[in-house]
Amino acid sequence: MCVSILNNHTEKVFTIRNATAHDCDDILRLIKELADYEHKENAVKLTEKDLLEDGFGDHPYYYCLIAEVPGNPDDQARSNVGFAMYYYTYDPWVGKVLYLEDFYVMEPYRGLGIGSEMLKKLCQEAVQRQCTCMHFLVMSQNKASVEFYRRRGATDLSNEEGWHLFTFTEDNLKRMAANQ
Ligand code: COA
Repeated sequence: MCVSILNNHTEKVFTIRNATAHDCDDILRLIKELADYEHKENAVKLTEKDLLEDGFGDHPYYYCLIAEVPGNPDDQARSNVGFAMYYYTYDPWVGKVLYLEDFYVMEPYRGLGIGSEMLKKLCQEAVQRQCTCMHFLVMSQNKASVEFYRRRGATDLSNEEGWHLFTFTEDNLKRMAANQ
């Protein structure tokens, strides 16, 4: 999957493509930037090695789209400026679901249509895989993103249906796993 978007002067502005194993350093950088943006800078424990093993082995735990822009005009280099991390999950009521886990475009490149194009690619992927919906979480204080999704017709299930996100932390998991 690879799509290039041209501006009015048919100059290549950005490209959306599937991530490869060589992108793990940039994926980690972008994950950290998004965590910073959400004031959770210390929450990222993942390493490049984890990303490599978990995304590019025989049974990937995640997939990733990368947004690239031309780098230095004097050479052919390109820079990775955004990403969308996703995977497939299963809902016993409606079946196959695409879960959008992380979605981020670096600040100087926002408002150029990169996010919309990645979302379109994800929707195409979901439809192709016969998913019935796409789920994702947004922090309620992230008003700009809440509005970004709302403008595109997303439904807030927490408001509409009263769902809450729960977790068993690693300590909990180990404690419960050890219980007879
Ligand atoms: N920054 C952000 N949005 C801008 C903008 C700017 N400098 N300038 C204009 N916009 C408007 C655009 O007009 C567009 O409006 P629309 O919804 O009416 O189309 C919208 O904001 C951005 O659209 P687009 O350019 O397609 O998306 P993007 O490349 O800016 O990416 C996000 C969208 C949400 C991925 C990006 O804003 C982002 O990374 N935000 C911070 C991280 C984040 O909140 N991620 C989502 C977590 S759930």
